[in-house]
Parts: sequence; structure tokens; C-alpha cells
Amino acid sequence: MAPTTPLRDTIDKSLPEFIEQLRQWLTIPSISTLPEHREDIRRAAAWVQERMTAIGFAETALIETAGHPLVYGEWPASGPGPTLLIYGHYDVQPVDPLEEWHSPPFEPEIRQGWIYARGASDDKGQIMIVLAALDAWARVKGGPPLSIKVLLEGEEEAGGEAIAAYVAANPEKLAADAVLICDTAMLSAEQPSLVTGLRGILYTEVAVSGAQRDLHSGSYGGVAPNPLHALCLLLGRLKGEDGEIHIPQLQATIPEASAEERRIWREDPLDIAAALRREMGVTVLVGEQGYPPLERIGLRPTLEVHGISGGFTAAGAKTVIPARATAKVSLRLPPGLDPDEVFTWFAEAVHRHLPVGHRAEVTNLHAGRGISVSPDNQFIRAAADSLATVYGKAPVFTREGGSIPIAALFDSVLRIPVVLMGFALPGDCIHAPNEKFSLNQFRRGIHTMALFLEQVSRLKNP
Ligand code: BES
Ligand code: MN
Ligand code: MN
Repeated sequence: MAPTTPLRDTIDKSLPEFIEQLRQWLTIPSISTLPEHREDIRRAAAWVQERMTAIGFAETALIETAGHPLVYGEWPASGPGPTLLIYGHYDVQPVDPLEEWHSPPFEPEIRQGWIYARGASDDKGQIMIVLAALDAWARVKGGPPLSIKVLLEGEEEAGGEAIAAYVAANPEKLAADAVLICDTAMLSAEQPSLVTGLRGILYTEVAVSGAQRDLHSGSYGGVAPNPLHALCLLLGRLKGEDGEIHIPQLQATIPEASAEERRIWREDPLDIAAALRREMGVTVLVGEQGYPPLERIGLRPTLEVHGISGGFTAAGAKTVIPARATAKVSLRLPPGLDPDEVFTWFAEAVHRHLPVGHRAEVTNLHAGRGISVSPDNQFIRAAADSLATVYGKAPVFTREGGSIPIAALFDSVLRIPVVLMGFALPGDCIHAPNEKFSLNQFRRGIHTMALFLEQVSRLKNP
């Protein structure tokens, strides 16, 4: 680490305060996908707006949208220099299955250096890293070293489109030299990394129907269509056991990785394949065996079933053939593909593979493009330098399999470099029970962020 500075001391001294602020925010159940949490979403938005005002932002606003509100903040530097736009999301995923949590998801608990709560890592803890770094700058120097704009959304986890409409309609207001997204993971606490790519996503619902009503399985079984079984056959036909997705137009458009990326993925010097097996508690990695695991996560498309409903699932037995069954199915897509176009291919494939005697209806619930960023720009170099200083090791560049739909729009609408620097760790259990965030990552993240702000402020001709 760099020698002691007032900024570093302030961060270390203020750390308990920053943790307490995060703890408070984490008590608000801002689950964007469940309508009953609408008011909680607003409280979480108001909480962070209030925090930004308290830190010293010149202007903050709650921006109403067709969905959940955006939180905006502006804090100009005293002198000329670059402007940095910072993005994060204050909404969180649902908490089910609740019985698997060791402490309630919205009663944050600190155990052995980790804070446990829904949203701890994704993404409130990471937003607090940015706000704490700005707070430290304000305490030491009276304000940020460069002009800051913050835009936080409340429906990232629900694939909401409010922020996309806002960004498309307000490019001048959001004008900046680069955008920082603090909502990704690094490879490990020992090996910092920066993300160079995210996959896109297409999230659908497939509804299969057969007879006009539920039927007795003895009186009709043998001649009746069974939508639940048809759905299972259909899903099996859309993706084989070998991981291959049976959508021909998709297979024809998957980009090739660069030779260098392929080499790293094949060699897997950090033995990430083994780490993945350990984390998941499995002995084999499934999927397309012809591609290295890291390519299967970082670049290859996937098709996953998230839930199936239909028929009888209560205790006991009921001999029924259901009239209808539905599944939630999503595809992760390599950057460059248009998810709305993939939707038409997907719907076509569903109808082609559907067992005879059934009808299917396919709905596009949400879609977002992937992104690929070149690490060759001065903003990413500033991020890499800051990470190297705090972690004592240069970061490596990796692609993530997850999606942040707005990232692609920052790239294509605002046309500014996107820096994906996040501090989550692979075992954080985001979207799962017992989500947690390492307080050591929190601390190092704040130090890294404070340095990054300074480094970017010094860039000439950004
Ligand atoms: N922060 C994640 C995305 C992510 C996860 C990036 C892991 C890198 C590593 C984000 O909050 C997320 O979960 N996105 C959703 C988007 C979707 C609901 C539109 C996702 O990827 O499922
Ligand atoms: Mn996130
Ligand atoms: Mn998420």
C-alpha cells in the first residue's frame, strides 16, 4: 500500500461509520420484482439520496419513472477536469428460500469479517464503497477531486427499462468522460481483476397448453395431451445434455474468442475450474465440453430453466393431467447479439420442438445486450493502477457471465469508456440465501476507489 496519507487515515478511522451506514441501508427490503415491496424500494431510494446529500453532493434528486425511481446526484469539482459518471443499483433480489438463511435477510449480521444480508454484495455494499470514498474525499479536501455524477437505478434485478429510457432521453445531462460500474466480482481476495465483458440476457416465459380443462389421468391418460410432460420434452430438445443449444440462427452468430483469451482459458493458470467445483460443491462441470469452463461462462450462450409450474405439487397424490404448464427460461448471450432478435429465433425453435397436440405461447419478459470493453484506455489503466496499489498485485482481465443491461447503453448511447471495477467475491452467494460481503473487500474497495478518483482527476485530455 501507498505511504500513509490523510485520505487513507480518514478511511480507516471512518470505517466503522461506513459499515454502520451500510447496515442501516441493508435493513430496507428493496426487492424490485415483487409489487408488495414498492414502498420499500422508495424508502431505499430516499435513504441513499439522503446519504448523498449528507456527504455534500451539490444536487441530488429522486427521478420518477414508469417503474421504480432513479436516484441522481451531481457534485462538480472546484476546478476544470474530467467528469466521471458512476452507476449502481439499490434494488435487490427476492430472498426465497427463506428457511435457508442463517440470519434474517434484512437484519444484517456481521460474522467473522463478513456482513450477511440480501444486497450486501449486490449491490448496496458496492455502492457504499463509492459513497464512502467520496465521503472521505469530502472530509479531507472538502469535495471530490473530479466532477461526479451518480445514477442509481431501482429495477436492475427485474430487468426494468426505466433507466434505459432515461439515459436515451438525457445524454447531455449525463455527459461524462467515462462511466464506472461498481457491480461485479473480482477473481479472489488475493487476485484483483477487472471485467472486460458481460453477457447479454433474454428472459422468457413459455406457456404450454393442451386440453381445455384439467383431466382425470385414468379416464383420459393415453389420449390426452400433457402440457407438463410436453414442456419437459421441449426443454430437453432446446438444449441437449452436451450443453448445445438447438437454435440454428444462434449457433451461426456466436463470436470467437481471441487467440490470447482462448490460451488463458485453456491454461486456466489460477485453476478457476477447481474453484468453481468447490464453490458449487460438485465434482463435474457440465455443459459444452469442447470449450473451457471460463469460455462457457464468459462468452458462450446458455439456456437455463429457472422454474416450472403446473399440475399438482401439494402433499399427497392427485391423479390429474393439467391443462397448462409454464416455465421461466432465459438465455445468456455473447456481446454483439441483439436479444430481441434472439427472441424471434427462440420462439421459432419452441414451436418447432413442441410435441404434437400442444400449443405454446412465448413471452419476452426482458432483454438486455452484453458488452465487451477494450482494456486499452486510460480510465481502465487508472483502475488497474489503483487496484495494484491497494492489493499489491496487478489485476488480470476477465469476462463475467452475468449481465448489467444498462452497461451496453452507456457504451452505445453515451459513447464513453465503461470501467467495470467491482469488489464482490465468488463465494458471496449473490441472488442466493446467505448473501454476504467481505468487510475486508469493503475496506480495500474504499481505498481503491479513493485512489481511482484521484488518478482519473489527473488524466489529461480524457
Ligand atoms: N451484479 C449483477 C451482475 C453480475 C453478477 C456481474 C456477477 C458480474 C458478476 C447484476 O445485479 C445482476 O444480477 N444482473 C442480472 C440482470 C438481469 C436480471 C437483467 C443477471 O445477471 O441476472
Ligand atoms: Mn448487481
Ligand atoms: Mn444481481
